[in-house]
Amino acid sequence: MIEEIREVRKKVENYIENIKDLNSLESFRLEFLVKKGRIQNLFDRLKDIPNTEKPLIGKELNILSKFAESIHKKLKEELEASAESSSEIDLSLPGRRNFKGSYHPVLKTIEDFVKIFESMGFIVAEGPDIEDGFHNFDALNFAPDHPARDMQDTFFIESDEELLLRTHTTPVQVRIMQSQKPPIRAIMPGRVYRNEAISARALAEFHQIDGIYVDKNVTFAELKATMIAFAKRMYGEDLKFRFRPSYFPFTEPSAEVDISCYLCNSKGCRVCKYSGWLEIAGCGMVHPNVLKACGIEPEEYSAYAFGFGIERITMLRTGIDDIRYLYDNDLRVLKQF
Ligand code: DAH
Repeated sequence: MIEEIREVRKKVENYIENIKDLNSLESFRLEFLVKKGRIQNLFDRLKDIPNTEKPLIGKELNILSKFAESIHKKLKEELEASAESSSEIDLSLPGRRNFKGSYHPVLKTIEDFVKIFESMGFIVAEGPDIEDGFHNFDALNFAPDHPARDMQDTFFIESDEELLLRTHTTPVQVRIMQSQKPPIRAIMPGRVYRNEAISARALAEFHQIDGIYVDKNVTFAELKATMIAFAKRMYGEDLKFRFRPSYFPFTEPSAEVDISCYLCNSKGCRVCKYSGWLEIAGCGMVHPNVLKACGIEPEEYSAYAFGFGIERITMLRTGIDDIRYLYDNDLRVLKQF
């Protein structure tokens, strides 16, 4: 009899290894735990056992029966819990996608700029957002009565007449020329501020990237080549270019760079205002007065400089046609990039 009890226990053990669902658990119960099951069958035969052996065999049988019942109880709980949780999943629903976050389109533009100019040997320089009149205007050859110096265009710091929020990133050119010896090749991304009425095209706070190259014999031809090499990498190889004469106090000669409109293939569209051209940058040869103000001898060195508006370029790249969308932080907009 003891031998038989051991055999049934082995059978129980083998059986539970293969219980994977509630159906097989039920078969297990029917085989071992019900009134006509294997374990009860052993109990029934206890009455034929000599009295002397009864206590020992009874004890073994009890152990077997408790073992089989507790295993059954445990498996039942586990299988029911997992059946419940899996029945809550509607397998026909589309998966939930995690939004991992992404670069803000303005930051992405800056990143792309930095990558291209770094590959051409430019370093990245930064300057303070709160500037003084010397770096923002005087050293850049702005005439004393230039309208940009007016309160209507520039945010001055109330408690200090000297200080203002920089209106462009060009003062960083002054700072780098004051602090380093040529050759200097740097780009300067950053935030700038203007006392503008906010509209679809203008904000009071936006971003620019300036660049400068100071060395012996720097020429306008090199400036053109650099602008073209940059724009081809940023916008594509098949572009056409146009350098239009322009005016900035800190460069002479000055130019504005246009690229052929890549949105309409120069045919004329809303974005290029039906001209076929997109303006992307201002540039020029750094004015000798600026070099002098920064302690660089204009007879010995020359320099070219350029400046880009980041939001404008970002709007062209993304097709966003209202600059305010860039700063509303509406996830429906941001998630698209
Ligand atoms: N600072 C000019 C602006 O805010 C942009 C600019 C034009 C920067 C020509 C330059 C440059 O460095 O050479 O409109």
